[in-house]
Amino acid sequence: MIALGCDHGGYELKQEIKQYLDEKKLAYIDFGTDSTESVDYPVYARKVVRAILSGECEKGILICGTGIGISIAANRYKGIRAALCTDCFMAEATRQHNDANILALGGRVVGPGLAVKIVDTFLNTPFSEGERHKNRIRLIEETED
Ligand code: RB5
Repeated sequence: MIALGCDHGGYELKQEIKQYLDEKKLAYIDFGTDSTESVDYPVYARKVVRAILSGECEKGILICGTGIGISIAANRYKGIRAALCTDCFMAEATRQHNDANILALGGRVVGPGLAVKIVDTFLNTPFSEGERHKNRIRLIEETED
């Protein structure tokens, strides 16, 4: 199950991504927002984070205007690795190296064609399981000061 969330700056791109997920018959839960009316991106980041941390969803896609604010908000939570990607190389590398569990996109940065390819790459690339990558993720999780 994939968790989707966005603010007003990401609403239109989220609609395109939902169309792609529907075509691929991939299950998702849309946590809003549901229009281009101005909202606060941390609220939607939290909804998607909660769905992942509870185990309801395995991965998430968060979209704001730039992808920056919503990824900063998501990365405040322990266990969340949200990666802002603007190309397929980044999407592939962040799955292989960082085991990213949230893809962040900028609705005002990437067009729908590229965004769908980034989503496809993110969802279909497994974590490498490499020991050095596991160790780095562990170091991130252990960092508290
Ligand atoms: C909203 O105007 C915009 O600030 C937001 O979508 C995002 O780009 C923040 O990082």
